[in-house]
Amino acid sequence: MLQVLAEEAVEGKANDKNEMKTVISVKNLEKIYTMGDVKVYALRGIDLDIYEGEFVAIMGTSGSGKSTLMNILGCLDQPTSGSYTLDGMDVSKSTRNQLAEVRNKKIGFVFQSFNLLSRTSALENVELPLLYNRKTNAQERHERAVKALTSVGLATRMKNMPNQLSGGQQQRVAIARALVNDPVIIFADEPTGNLDSRTSFEVIDIFQKLNANGITIVLVTHEPDIAQFATRRVVFRDGKIIDDSPVTGRKNAIEELAKLPPADDIDNNPEALQKIETAVETENEAS
Ligand SMILES: Nc1ncnc2c1ncn2[C@@H]1O[C@H](COP(=O)(O)OP(=O)(O)OP(=O)(O)O)[C@@H](O)[C@H]1O
Ligand SMILES: [Mg+2]
Repeated sequence: MLQVLAEEAVEGKANDKNEMKTVISVKNLEKIYTMGDVKVYALRGIDLDIYEGEFVAIMGTSGSGKSTLMNILGCLDQPTSGSYTLDGMDVSKSTRNQLAEVRNKKIGFVFQSFNLLSRTSALENVELPLLYNRKTNAQERHERAVKALTSVGLATRMKNMPNQLSGGQQQRVAIARALVNDPVIIFADEPTGNLDSRTSFEVIDIFQKLNANGITIVLVTHEPDIAQFATRRVVFRDGKIIDDSPVTGRKNAIEELAKLPPADDIDNNPEALQKIETAVETENEAS
């Protein structure tokens, strides 16, 4: 029942866009890569508005421009032409330094390959974005990183190095890192691309919870199953949007997880957790 109400609320909100705040507004966006004499038209005039509280799944064939768009939306790259307004600010004309600041303040980015620093603990990886934030001191950085890691269920793995974590746990560290600056929006480019079904659903569950708490999410996926967890699906082909529609029969990750066979749940076994913690400490001291 609650689920039905929640779905109606989301769909109702999506239908009443006049009352919703626009977080992203892109007009006639183009990206042309020049490779010697050859021009690659990666984006051929994209118009897209994304509203606060949406969970948008971006789909489309390989090479259709999804990552190119995500990198521009995430302020990691700039368009060749067209305009991009993020949270009321025209970022298509911003300088590199301004882009870096916007990225740090408003955006969280999650990649398929996690992009964690390998010789740095989960905790330090999550603290990293805060080092660029001059207003935070060491204690505050620590507290915020602990809070972010706890919110993705990794309170017991904070001292682990990335190679002492499973793929799903590494992706959760990456999500915690994306969250630590309290972003208004999270961009995730195939965040479940390297994960099995159960782990994918666990990661999507985190995104759904963040979204329920008001964070706007834009997620690229190849998998139609994963797009079913979003509220809206935008499909790309050859650098253009060919379909943009609400997701009907939206799925809930918790419910899908419940349908899978139970996993070995080491996190509910204090003795095993203690052993892992000791092993991690010994290994880290030795290296
Ligand atoms: N840095 C680059 N230099 C030159 N061409 C590029 C660059 N990045 C992407 N392209 C080209 O732009 C087009 C769009 O690439 P993009 O990475 O956005 O596709 P995609 O939809 O994310 O694909 P996939 O699903 O495989 O990740 C492709 O033809 C690609 O070869
Ligand atoms: Mg891509």
